[in-house]
Amino acid sequence: MTTPRPVLVVDYGAQYAQLIARRVREAKVYSEIVPHTMPVKDMLAKDPVAIILSGGPSSVYEVGAPQVDGGLFETGVPVFGICYGFQAMAQALGGAVAHTGRREFGGTELTVAPEAGVLLRDLPAALPVWMSHGDSVTAAPAGFTVTAATPGAQVAAFEDLVGRRAGTQFHPEVMHTAHGQDVLTRFLYDIAGIEPSWTPDNIIDDQVAAIRERVGDKEVICGLSGGVDSAVAAALVHKAVGDQLTCVFVDHGLLRAGEAEQVEQDYVEATGVKLRVVDAADRFLSALDGVIDPEQKRKIIGREFIRVFEQAAREVAAEGDVEFLVQGTLYPDVVESGGGTGTANIKSHHNVGGLPDDLKFSLVEPLRTLFKDEVRTLGTALGLPDPMVWRHPFPGPGLAIRIIGAVSRDRLDILRAADQIAREELTAAGFDRDVWQFPVVLLADVRSVGVQGDGRTYGHPVVLRPVSSEDAMTADWSRLPYEVIARISTRITNEVPEVNRVVLDVTSKPPGTIEWE
Ligand code: XMP
Repeated sequence: MTTPRPVLVVDYGAQYAQLIARRVREAKVYSEIVPHTMPVKDMLAKDPVAIILSGGPSSVYEVGAPQVDGGLFETGVPVFGICYGFQAMAQALGGAVAHTGRREFGGTELTVAPEAGVLLRDLPAALPVWMSHGDSVTAAPAGFTVTAATPGAQVAAFEDLVGRRAGTQFHPEVMHTAHGQDVLTRFLYDIAGIEPSWTPDNIIDDQVAAIRERVGDKEVICGLSGGVDSAVAAALVHKAVGDQLTCVFVDHGLLRAGEAEQVEQDYVEATGVKLRVVDAADRFLSALDGVIDPEQKRKIIGREFIRVFEQAAREVAAEGDVEFLVQGTLYPDVVESGGGTGTANIKSHHNVGGLPDDLKFSLVEPLRTLFKDEVRTLGTALGLPDPMVWRHPFPGPGLAIRIIGAVSRDRLDILRAADQIAREELTAAGFDRDVWQFPVVLLADVRSVGVQGDGRTYGHPVVLRPVSSEDAMTADWSRLPYEVIARISTRITNEVPEVNRVVLDVTSKPPGTIEWE
């Protein structure tokens, strides 16, 4: 794939590298994450425009702390050090790092020196910043100007404009640091001299060119799930090779209200892709009949999905020379599965790597270098409908794992109705983008007594599970306004006759998971 020259973010093992890489891209500069074990010569082989050393263990003295190769600073490539990377840079270049005994974790106040330099130019004289360190830089290396201090770090930021190197003890990438993005941007534009050119239009042009080159005149197949990743991946491939692409949508009958129509009508209208719909709801429902165990549900759905997709792929392949399969693999999957090469490890059952040998395709993964927010931006730039672009993450097994108990058509209808109300009210209240996911769960085997009009009811509860999260690894329950929760509750109990009780899940993850099954 043709990608621009990257800013390399060297990962020292803390959780910050991906965040830094995203912030760099928000500044319209392409970035890639590399492990700290990568030799300097391999970094240089990537022809980087700058290198950023991320945070890591709290001390350069820690046993087993990753070493920073001093050669990194002799390459002429601009370098920015953050937290651990800042200390490592100071130490490698002849400054001093010491156990001062003054640890800082969390928010603290940064005092900008009168000579603020380039990095902190025109910022307020005192700034709230986020720190996480045990050691401190006590003396900057020769040639560096110290531009800020905090109560626990007399050297909290420095820069060397001639050597095009700078660093901060604080974390500019976290949102708790005021003006953090300004600090990063100034390093990139004003110290490293990088032009901001990583824009949606350029990304699309690069990807389209790369896909055309790879695919040539061969046919391509892509499974659509209703989610944003496969939708954007397919739209990019379609833009590149038009009707050489055939999309397959397996409707397993476990989607939410309106989602199948979104794929079959709105998406096709917006993109013009050739779509083959397989209505497999009956097949999935009969395979799931009477199954209660969530893992068994997942297995069955995964197995049926592969079978149905395989059949459709055979039919498409019979009509042309299909050589490629599109997958919506994202950059975090690539990074988490160990780096830039090889096949990413895809979690959901939509991974069709289980296809038989005579149906092996080469993968086209046009989103391999992209983060989710970039995929959304591309989706909009490619003209995809908003509800698809902004769809919350949704599990591959769909509503089957949001029915606690056996899955049936009736139960799916009940859950779909309740879920639709929750989604409508969330959207109406303007909270779609604040909430990461909002599962609505039907406790299908539970009944409780209620009263409605003159009569006693004996209905099912549904659970509202709105969560806030960055990446689904951890999550907290969303503090939605009570009025929004109240409207959802009233409407569900009024409009869905089988449901007579609505409860709110107030468990964080951990210890709870996002889904109930
Ligand atoms: P949990 O429930 O483990 O979910 O906190 C984390 C994220 O993964 C999604 N999820 C799934 N996605 N197939 C999927 O494609 C699955 O079987 C599955 N189970 C959970 C969940 O919606 C959340 O985003």
